[in-house]
Amino acid sequence: MDPGTSELREAALAAHANSHSPYSRYPVGAALRTAAGAVFAGCNVENASYPEGTCAETGAIAAMVAAGERSIAEMVVVTSGDTPGTPCGGCRQRIREFAGPDVMVHAATTDGAVASFRVRDLLPASFGPEQLSDA
Ligand code: THU
Repeated sequence: MDPGTSELREAALAAHANSHSPYSRYPVGAALRTAAGAVFAGCNVENASYPEGTCAETGAIAAMVAAGERSIAEMVVVTSGDTPGTPCGGCRQRIREFAGPDVMVHAATTDGAVASFRVRDLLPASFGPEQLSDA
């Protein structure tokens, strides 16, 4: 990954370490850099009432929006294990809301394996804000 992404990777690793995932035992950390250069991170936060848990990407996006930003320039998601965990379907849609088609999403493991994807490839033929404004 390029140097700009290593800052994101560190932020995602720190969030991963704080994950509340006692039920799945699958900690996830996510960090994004905005077009303005700010970094926001999130982790998955599970709940004893299982459906109420939230994903790491969702937390990072909520932090960005709460801070008044709306544009994702790059994102890193960190998981444990040997295989990078790519964003779930719901999170792909949430990322797409705030990221252009060429924005890179890096799925990394804590050990440094990385698989990188463009938003357009994570969610092809996607629905987004443009559809609503065209209608
Ligand atoms: N999880 C994420 O945080 N992000 C994803 O994109 C996939 C799944 C979390 C949800 C749950 O806490 C755990 O990983 C297992 O599904």
